[in-house]
Amino acid sequence: MSAARPASFHEASTTAAPSLSVRAVGYGERMPLGRLTPGLRDARLIEFIGPDPATNFHFVQAMMEAGLVVREVETPSGQADALVLAHGLSGEAVDAHAGAVTKLSKAAAVFENQGGTLILLQDTGGTFQPRDDRAWRGGLTGLGRTAQKEFASATVRTIDIDVAAFGPRPAADRVVEELLSGGNAACVGISASGRFVPTEAACVLPKNRVGSIGPGDTFLVTGGARGVTASCIIELARRTNAAFVLLGRSAIEDWPEDIDPTSDERSLRGALARRAKASGQKVSPADLNRQAARLLAGTEIREALNALSAAGSRAHYAIADVADAQAVQTAVESASQMFGPITGLVHGAGVLADKLIREKTADQVTRVFGPKVVGLQNIISAIDTSALKHIAFFSSVAARYGNAGQSDYAMANEVLNRVAQWLKAANPSACITSLGWGPWDGGMVDDSLRAKFAEMGVALIPRQAGADLFADAMLAGAACPVELVIGSELANG
Ligand SMILES: NC(=O)c1ccc[n+]([C@@H]2O[C@H](COP(=O)([O-])OP(=O)(O)OC[C@H]3O[C@@H](n4cnc5c(N)ncnc54)[C@H](OP(=O)(O)O)[C@@H]3O)[C@@H](O)[C@H]2O)c1
Repeated sequence: MSAARPASFHEASTTAAPSLSVRAVGYGERMPLGRLTPGLRDARLIEFIGPDPATNFHFVQAMMEAGLVVREVETPSGQADALVLAHGLSGEAVDAHAGAVTKLSKAAAVFENQGGTLILLQDTGGTFQPRDDRAWRGGLTGLGRTAQKEFASATVRTIDIDVAAFGPRPAADRVVEELLSGGNAACVGISASGRFVPTEAACVLPKNRVGSIGPGDTFLVTGGARGVTASCIIELARRTNAAFVLLGRSAIEDWPEDIDPTSDERSLRGALARRAKASGQKVSPADLNRQAARLLAGTEIREALNALSAAGSRAHYAIADVADAQAVQTAVESASQMFGPITGLVHGAGVLADKLIREKTADQVTRVFGPKVVGLQNIISAIDTSALKHIAFFSSVAARYGNAGQSDYAMANEVLNRVAQWLKAANPSACITSLGWGPWDGGMVDDSLRAKFAEMGVALIPRQAGADLFADAMLAGAACPVELVIGSELANG
């Protein structure tokens, strides 16, 4: 069912492309159902954990006054029927999300085996369309959705509450009201203007539109020299001839003269092993893997630059870890000197560190948040996003629906979705979109993931079909929806 593998990194597969499912995510007002959240009223004990004792006090107090048996604790005891994690109400992006998932990891075995009720609290303004930097704390929805996948018999709810507008105690009262009347709605925002839940609708992007991007535009593209982001910007280059500055960590290593060119990792490792043996060198399998990965990364970057140039675009690759603020600043300055002011941003840098919640560590969350979230913070500090005409984030269906093993990745991508909403509110005439991709036939979907998706019956996004859709989205202009879900075969509502 997957397309034939192309011979080089950025070549489109030859198999006919299936049409992609494209859906726009919105947020609509809904009345509560008037039903209790299951498992709270009859809970022998509800444990409440949050990073800010002053805020915790108000929430615990409001819950106790409503007759719930709740206790503030440092770590889940394993004895409670329900757990409330309030890490999204305060604090900085990485700490808030890492704090929530690591506390939850301590209760994960109980949730897996016995179910229970899990409530996650965050504050991005209560509408999922933040108007300020609380957007950076908006990833707990991704954790909730993933927890629901991993804890099949539990009730999991994420509530986004505008504490800043209500004040802590009234906000706590609103949350208690939601717990007593909101049923098991998975994701609810509460603001002064109402109660909001996510909605989804089929969306058709205009095809092959031209005009809003041209050779005078310069795009900064994180992760743009490799993977699926490269395929996307190559298509955009073909249609627009814009200039591209690509950021990535890999160096462009020269290909060894005594090894035949290949994009197949296994045969390259074999050739490197034979060469080492012939010269009497001892190399470990790990060394061989690293050498092969470096050479293939270099080839992939060279091929991307050649493809951009063949498409009629100017392109430059800068080695920069986007999680390093100084490296981003330097790369942005030299990009502007080289090609003029940056007019567009594509944020595609990302890594995976998949593990079930019960095994999740703060270190894994930090690794996943590094390129996606800290990287984006660094870019937003280095460029004036209000002056950009086009912004695209590479998000994932994992944020929208959750995916077992990807709690950190789902949270990081959900943060991108919230930040896109924030930037759009500040710059409504720009094309700003967070693309919630389903799995592609390429990039981080390696052979083992490809086999897993095949087993699950999930069709992969062919590279050219995804690239076409990306270019259509960028050329759709300001009307492009802020949150899209594409090829969402993982979806189940
Ligand atoms: N492929 C999919 O099925 C899929 C599905 C949903 C969403 N996405 C998203 O699409 C984006 C691209 O994914 P992909 O599949 O193409 O992955 P990939 O092949 O692993 O490419 C990831 C890219 O990010 C760059 N990168 C990673 N960490 C970085 C850092 N700290 N600083 C700068 N660059 C960094 C990598 O370059 P270096 O290694 O050279 O730094 C590479 O160019 C990701 O954000 C991913 O989450 C992909």
